[in-house]
Amino acid sequence: MSKCDIGLIGLAVMGENLVMNMESKGFRVAVFNRTVEKVTNFVNGRAAGKNIVGCMSLEELVDNLEKPRRIMLMVKAGKPVDDFIDKLIPLLEEGDIIIDGGNSHFPDTIRRCEYVESKGMRFIGTGVSGGEEGALNGPSMMPGGTPSAWEYVKPIFQAICAKVEDGSPCCDWVGENGAGHFVKMVHNGIEYGDMQLICEAYQLMRDNLGMSAEEMHEVFKAWKKTELDSYLIDITTDILAYKDEDGEPIVNHILDTAGQKGTGKWTAIAALDEGVPLTLIGEAVFSRCLSAMKSERVNASKALGGSYQKFNGTAEEKAAFIESIRKALLASKIISYAQGYTLMRTAAKTYNWNLNYGGIALMWRGGCIIRSVFLGKIKEAYDRDPSLSNLLLDPYFKDKIASLVPEWRTVVASAVLAGVPTPAFASALSYFDGYRSEFLPANLLQAQRDYFGAHTYERLDHERGEFFHTDWTGHGGNTSAGVYNA
Ligand code: 2AM
Repeated sequence: MSKCDIGLIGLAVMGENLVMNMESKGFRVAVFNRTVEKVTNFVNGRAAGKNIVGCMSLEELVDNLEKPRRIMLMVKAGKPVDDFIDKLIPLLEEGDIIIDGGNSHFPDTIRRCEYVESKGMRFIGTGVSGGEEGALNGPSMMPGGTPSAWEYVKPIFQAICAKVEDGSPCCDWVGENGAGHFVKMVHNGIEYGDMQLICEAYQLMRDNLGMSAEEMHEVFKAWKKTELDSYLIDITTDILAYKDEDGEPIVNHILDTAGQKGTGKWTAIAALDEGVPLTLIGEAVFSRCLSAMKSERVNASKALGGSYQKFNGTAEEKAAFIESIRKALLASKIISYAQGYTLMRTAAKTYNWNLNYGGIALMWRGGCIIRSVFLGKIKEAYDRDPSLSNLLLDPYFKDKIASLVPEWRTVVASAVLAGVPTPAFASALSYFDGYRSEFLPANLLQAQRDYFGAHTYERLDHERGEFFHTDWTGHGGNTSAGVYNA
């Protein structure tokens, strides 16, 4: 019996579907699961008659693999990953490769990579996006880890991943140690932002324009034919048309409290750690938190007045406003990606990753939740200039955003006047206005810091790096803040 190309541990739906996908592309796969009955069920069920070898122990799995061995873990993130790594290491040989395809937090992947390498083996932490369907038919994959492992994993990953129209694979090497899981985390944060933006457009149409789900379905259907064409706009179009058993749009019956698993929060925390203004994703995370406070909001809506001002324009003005909402969504989306890419650039410096930004856009172009036509434009921007410091400075995006700004402002202003919350639209606009400001009010802020804390300031009329202190009150001297009694 010939040996297997790869072993996979963890036969939940994602794991099983990846195995089926690998097998369908001509790879022979050995499988194992902690609860071994699942192995038996799988090989006698979906995997029956396929090029899949069920193993009853880790030893058996390891014995069945071609060298260097490739073993992919698709188990619950956290301790189960560490446990399997510890059980595998004594069974493996130098150069063998352990791959973690779960939703691990990137600092864990950095730690595991170092640990596995210290034992003489190689490690890959890979993001896998696209859910269960993607795992079966072609996910977006974002691998990072021991660079020398990539040549052994590349033929399998690039065979099973999603492809864009020209056949390019939505999977390429991301970078060392935790880079793959970091990029997957940012993908998830961007997904939070994209979803929030669509929800703000929806709320404006529902609560300000008073539109029905059916009417909004038509709007999103039309938006699919624009630059907004994406998986998330697609499913939103479907959702708005979906009727419940009583014939009502089902979306009207769904409780308005959002859940979250934490990857958006991780992205926002990483941005705070790196000192990067990732405002839109931050607002998207906080919006989910606010939505989750349902009973408190119900009380507050009574106490504080929970109504929205209705749009009272003509049909023509309404149509124009809907188009303005589309433009506000697109402009805000550009900001969100500009912020997300800035986070990746900054983290790449911190962690010494040599990230390929155009390649990342291509990995996200198909297979994953944020897949869109728009990502093709980002790929082109980084092809033009791989060292682009901010997406907003690329000629295409610069012109694009300029064409959107007037109506974006109108939408945010109208939302504010109508009392409809649009935290992502509005924070994106504030970021844009801040980013394009030569002068921000931080001169006053530095003066305040110097006043109460003698933190010093730099001056416009001196070289950078020269620090000044003013004795603001005439007493207390220039030593410490504690003596000020202003
Ligand atoms: P199980 O079928 O034995 O529960 C997704 O939950 C996958 O992770 C499953 O294959 C599951 O195995 C595995 N998993 C969850 N917790 C685990 C643990 N503590 N140790 C090993 N595998 C675990």
